[in-house]
Amino acid sequence: MTASARLDPRDEIAGIDRRLFGGFVEHLGRHIYDGIFEPGHPSAGSDGFRADVIELVKELGVTTIRYPGGNFVSGYNWEDGIGPKAERPRRLDLAWHATETNQVGLHEFQAWLDRVGSDLMLAVNLGTRGTPEALDLLEYANTSVETARTTERAANGRESPFAVKMWCLGNEMDGFWQLGHRSAADYGKLASRTAKAMRMLDPSIELVVCGSSSRTMPTFGAWEREVLEHTFDDVDFISCHAYYQEDDGNAQEFLASGVDMALFIEQVVATADHVAAVRQSDKRIMVSFDEWNVWYMSRWQEEALTYGPDEWPVAPRQLEDRYNALDAVVFGDLMITLLQHADRVRSASLAQLVNVIAPIMTEPGGPAWRQTTFFPFSITARLAQGRAVRVPLESASFRSERFGDVAALNAVATVDDEGATLFVVNRSTTDAAALRLDLAPLAAALGRELRVVESHVLHEDDLYAANALEDPERVGVRPLDGAAVAASVLTADLPPVSWTAVRLA
Ligand code: AHR
Repeated sequence: MTASARLDPRDEIAGIDRRLFGGFVEHLGRHIYDGIFEPGHPSAGSDGFRADVIELVKELGVTTIRYPGGNFVSGYNWEDGIGPKAERPRRLDLAWHATETNQVGLHEFQAWLDRVGSDLMLAVNLGTRGTPEALDLLEYANTSVETARTTERAANGRESPFAVKMWCLGNEMDGFWQLGHRSAADYGKLASRTAKAMRMLDPSIELVVCGSSSRTMPTFGAWEREVLEHTFDDVDFISCHAYYQEDDGNAQEFLASGVDMALFIEQVVATADHVAAVRQSDKRIMVSFDEWNVWYMSRWQEEALTYGPDEWPVAPRQLEDRYNALDAVVFGDLMITLLQHADRVRSASLAQLVNVIAPIMTEPGGPAWRQTTFFPFSITARLAQGRAVRVPLESASFRSERFGDVAALNAVATVDDEGATLFVVNRSTTDAAALRLDLAPLAAALGRELRVVESHVLHEDDLYAANALEDPERVGVRPLDGAAVAASVLTADLPPVSWTAVRLA
């Protein structure tokens, strides 16, 4: 297969919001307990946080981290996680059939974020709770005026506000599995009331209203329209959530997942803009893609059925997917898709971070290691700077059962003051691709010739090769042999089922 394109910085999509490289930490399984927090681990300090995990999270480069859920937040009392640890209640977490010890709460998590260098994005419970509790949390977190709540915060060790900028108005309220699941009309009214009240307290916050839990939800489209009809004036973002998995060993179909994500974003944007049109408004609601990943959800659903009614374990091994090379290529394509929509996707959160459908795994008392998906994330977060630019590649296509003809190559570039980075995925399961990218317009715009200064390819002949405790470095990235620029043309050979990043400067 051959493929060619011109890289012209005038084909700009948008400046990249760094919040596109966000993550997500939920009280779920071994994410917090026996994940980021493991008192007694050789690398843990007096605060109980594992330093080896902190180093890997920093290397991953996540910017904003959504917390504390997920499904968990819809039954969570945030007050359970503050104050003296010995007095914090143990509670049943109905979302994941586990016991929550509350040894990590808002203060501890912020302290961890300070070490990691990421910003907090908070979700409020609109499942079992409502506007008053959201206001209490906002006052506790963001107010500097002396009140009962802020005095309590100071007594708990934090004089200055947490100053949380982004807030999610609940989680996946369209899902039947969600505590407090509601109709679009009921949720829209609650979200609007809560948003208005929160803004009266702190007008500087940005608010995310719940969109659909996936594009396959029976209410998809209608949900967004109706929820936005109630909340259009009150919110800045609408959320999208999407998880993908390989079904029935059909790698080629799985490799078309990026098409679904692109359609999802475009249809949500069209719906939001329809609501704007009806209101004769020029306001643009942005997308917060605040849960996305590869997740073998069907495995978890089978596992969940084995739980006995009296079984409420602390930090069980839940959702511990082991990612292979194929998963990482699809994952890299999802990141390309987010960048291709950088004009409207202004925030995104990889779900999740440690142990739970995560790029980082840990063993209690043992090591931490990178899953295959770690590499496309960390490299994209580091190299995708400046502005996202279209790469109109002409390539062969393959036939997808769901999407018809799908381009075998998918690419985006980012351009900054020093140079540019190309991100490209070869979705073909059979054919390598000889790529030719004409860099002349870019070189002219930058006023200098470009050369390859860094390249990374993720490809394995064995698509199912993975990293694990017993072999933590089996899969990684390596430089793309032969990638070079001559006469302002980048040439590179992309193996089948591969993800590649090429830095030009
Ligand atoms: O990320 C795992 C779960 O997926 C989240 O708790 C929920 O929001 C979604 O269904």
